[in-house]
Amino acid sequence: MAELLGDWKRTVTCGELRGSHASRVETLMGWARSVRDHGGVIFVDLRDRHGVTQLVFRPEVLPAERMDLARQIGLEYVVAARGTVQGRPEGARNPQLPTGEVEVLVSEFKILNESEPLPFLPADEPAASEELRLKYRYIDLRREPLQAILALRHGVYQSVRKALSREGFLEIETPLLVRPTPEGARDYLVPSRVHRGKFFALPQSPQLYKQLLMVSGFDRYFQLARCLRDEDPRADRQPEFAQVDVEMSFPSEDDVFGVIERMFVAVFEETMGLRLETPFPRLSYREAMTRYGTDKPDMRIPLEISDVTDEAVRGGFAPFVEAAQVGGRVACLAAAAEFSRKEIATLEGQVASVGVKPLFWARLTPSGLEGGVSKSLSRELAAKIVALASGKPGVVFLAAGKRAFEALGMVRTVVGSRMQIADTGYNFAWVRDFPLFSWNEEENRWEPAHHMFSMPYDDSIPFLENDPGRVKAHVYDLVCNGVELGSGSIRIHLPELQLRVMKVLGLSREEADRRFGFLLEAMRYGAPPHGGIALGLDRTVMLMSGRQTIRDTIAFPKTTSGSSLMDGSPSEVDSKDISDLGLKLV
Ligand code: AMO
Repeated sequence: MAELLGDWKRTVTCGELRGSHASRVETLMGWARSVRDHGGVIFVDLRDRHGVTQLVFRPEVLPAERMDLARQIGLEYVVAARGTVQGRPEGARNPQLPTGEVEVLVSEFKILNESEPLPFLPADEPAASEELRLKYRYIDLRREPLQAILALRHGVYQSVRKALSREGFLEIETPLLVRPTPEGARDYLVPSRVHRGKFFALPQSPQLYKQLLMVSGFDRYFQLARCLRDEDPRADRQPEFAQVDVEMSFPSEDDVFGVIERMFVAVFEETMGLRLETPFPRLSYREAMTRYGTDKPDMRIPLEISDVTDEAVRGGFAPFVEAAQVGGRVACLAAAAEFSRKEIATLEGQVASVGVKPLFWARLTPSGLEGGVSKSLSRELAAKIVALASGKPGVVFLAAGKRAFEALGMVRTVVGSRMQIADTGYNFAWVRDFPLFSWNEEENRWEPAHHMFSMPYDDSIPFLENDPGRVKAHVYDLVCNGVELGSGSIRIHLPELQLRVMKVLGLSREEADRRFGFLLEAMRYGAPPHGGIALGLDRTVMLMSGRQTIRDTIAFPKTTSGSSLMDGSPSEVDSKDISDLGLKLV
């Protein structure tokens, strides 16, 4: 039944025709979204990524055998139709559709391809499971919402390229087969056939290469870079993702912030017509942790955590005093909202995951604090809490311990999710002054809080060897609505300093030379001061499109277990292919 395209040319898309096009003859091509037979007249809604146009097949216009053929058009058949654009009769207009004023009276058509019954219809709001939709991703991608996201993503790419080019950045590609230099996650390894027993890694980011480009004198570099990390996917994490990767020579932190702010202003303006306010607020890591209990605060939530350790200790309530004795703090969050006992129990479970137990609470009523821990609070502490709540009734939460703020940060997020904050726009903020190292309790060692190439503050350098926990660095994150969008730093460009930092991380001189010798050597040949940032592109598009997962922003994403249901990868390979690589499966 299917016919070849021949010399037919598409003259308009399915989203183009309006009343003003009436009486023109046009040719459309697309997919049959719906087919209706109304007493011998056949209506087909023809869809492409630009829209939907109604085709009308009438026996007065088409010979009987063509009408018979038209009757065989099934859902998702690919159809080419030529005909006259005409206004729809009064009452048959569809104001929901941009093309709803017109229809095309078909004089010639071709069925270009048939479609078997589909596992699900792309027109549906997805009743199909995500598994089924991922297996048939190419069908799911016919849906308008996903097409709109990929179009938005395209727009973001173009705006980013324009904005950075305008500022003198050069787009330079870096290799995909690189030396394994783990950046925190596990590497994907690629065995070399030519050099048996040796491996490339796929890059977790272009970090070292962009630093080397600075050594070469490309003072402003960017790349829309693919990054690969062998880690478990989550809603905001994929093993394969994209970054807007940026590096500059001779920058201050503010130079980097300025470039990125101007870039985001252009991106939001050009793709969404939204005006972002700059400069984005800047807060220190410490401020973020004590006011919001997280280093990626959702600034849309109008609540702050307070430190009440002094009052709590003076009050003498044992769990508070004991927490303070071992270096913990007592923190308070007035939620100004009601919580049932069941909801509080759920929160208790959540904060226990950061080792804070119990989660104390009390109810603020017009007559004061009641229930929960209220009886154990001193007058002074109770008065402080009432003041912090500005008298607003609702549940007040208290947490004690080393991670009290983080615990209440989790509570704050839950409170936020109950507020109407979703429509309050995009609240960006820079978080800076991060510590250079964090202590890994399980492995009993220091690890980089960001990565090991970040420059410590001048006045922190003397503490490197004796008190690594005190070292602060030129490390910054860009957060938006509670999501870490990007992360960067001013880098170390001095080889001796880089070696000292590596030593704190447990890398001996030999080990450092073995793994990072090429970088350390490059630093010895005139490396300029430099710094940069990488922004998660998928996360940016996720936020812009109001989605909850970055899977929706990627044409062919992996499942939460890191596989592709569509092509069945990862898959087994022939044993010959394995032995050619000099490998053996164990
Ligand atoms: P980092 O590892 O923090 O820094 O990554 C930068 C940003 O990339 C995004 N991102 C991810 N997005 C989706 N899936 C993932 N698995 C994933 N991992 C990270 C986040 C994150 O903020 N080389 C440094 C950057 C630098 O210092 O310039 C780096 O890659 O939005």
